Amino acid sequence: MSGVTLENVWKRFGTTEVLKGIDLAFEPGEFVVLVGPSGCGKSTLLNIVAGLETLTEGEVRIGDRVVTHVPPKDRDIAMVFQSYSLYPTKSVRRNITFGMEMRGVDKAKQDKSVADVAALLHIEPLLDRKPAQLSGGQRQRVAMARALVRDPDLFLFDEPLSNLDAKLRIEMRTEIKKLHQRIQKSVIYVTHDQIEAMTLASRIAVMDQGHVRQFATPDEIYENPADLFVASFMGSPPMNILSGRIVDEGGLAVEVSDEAGPVRFPLPDPLARSVAGAAGRSVKLGLRPETITGRDGQQRVADLFAFERRIEVIEPTGPDTMLITSLGGEELIARVRPEDRAQVGQPFAFEVNMAKAKLFDAESGRRL
Ligand SMILES: Nc1ncnc2c1ncn2[C@@H]1O[C@H](COP(=O)(O)OP(=O)(O)OP(=O)(O)O)[C@@H](O)[C@H]1O
Ligand SMILES: [Mg+2]
Repeated sequence: MSGVTLENVWKRFGTTEVLKGIDLAFEPGEFVVLVGPSGCGKSTLLNIVAGLETLTEGEVRIGDRVVTHVPPKDRDIAMVFQSYSLYPTKSVRRNITFGMEMRGVDKAKQDKSVADVAALLHIEPLLDRKPAQLSGGQRQRVAMARALVRDPDLFLFDEPLSNLDAKLRIEMRTEIKKLHQRIQKSVIYVTHDQIEAMTLASRIAVMDQGHVRQFATPDEIYENPADLFVASFMGSPPMNILSGRIVDEGGLAVEVSDEAGPVRFPLPDPLARSVAGAAGRSVKLGLRPETITGRDGQQRVADLFAFERRIEVIEPTGPDTMLITSLGGEELIARVRPEDRAQVGQPFAFEVNMAKAKLFDAESGRRL
């Protein structure tokens, strides 16, 4: 089993820079997710690992082997795309065995491989059907089966679930996770869905405009986002970002101006230490919706700060209710308990856990 190393990878199409010096190293057996908005370069990077795209500059290694100029068929990888690209005229069985036939694998071994992978993916009853006779989820399984029978060193997935409906996506996500736990192969998985990234990855590379903004575990990305981009991309609803400035009134706080009068969010340590002596400095205050609750929503927490806002919209989701208000001209979303009674147009008493707050530099967007 092999890890993957990307060193200073650049990709230009003419004068358009699509990848701008990517450095990433994946451990063997890791499930790495590349996530980022449309056009940020995820598929290009994956295709470079696959050998389907050449790079302008840099080096790619699979294990200890430099593969920068090795053709795809000699890289020992299998790829699953968003469009499953199954052969429409061949049965499921032949779709799965076709690659083995081409490589001259003997018939008994082919049958054994199909039986194993069909059992693993629960597609035994489908083996004699044609792709047109399958549901989207079943086609997705067949595409995975075809990749799995190759028993490669490295699996590459490019948005394999994006053609499925919401419920099936969640089911298949769990299946893929189970599968990885079972086979323990290295996986690089591309998605623009941050929930998919959080749930599947051992580590996530968050990409933006050809750069990797952060490469870390899901917990680290969520709890300690490197910058405003990562903070607002990962999380649903996203982190609230308020513009304010540091004030010192016997303790450091972030003051957010508002037409109803300024609100001062007191900063506990270590946040306060990160802006010591910086009174007057412009900052962005990041508050995850779940750290803002109704009063008594988080009794055992120190560093609570209470404030009141008028509710503009109420969005029940079942387990939680989203309360939407505004502060300093920006929207503020709180995730409260359904039993916290709120009324549109009425003031609501919020409490925010300031120990969970994040501070970012207003200019660079870097976390402080
Ligand atoms: N052959 C090409 N020539 C010129 N520009 C290209 C070419 N292929 C891709 N690009 C550009 O490179 C950028 C990155 O494309 P890429 O397909 O890697 O994005 P992505 O992150 O996978 O996006 P999506 O989530 O939409 O699939 C895009 O701006 C795209 O327009
Ligand atoms: Mg893509």
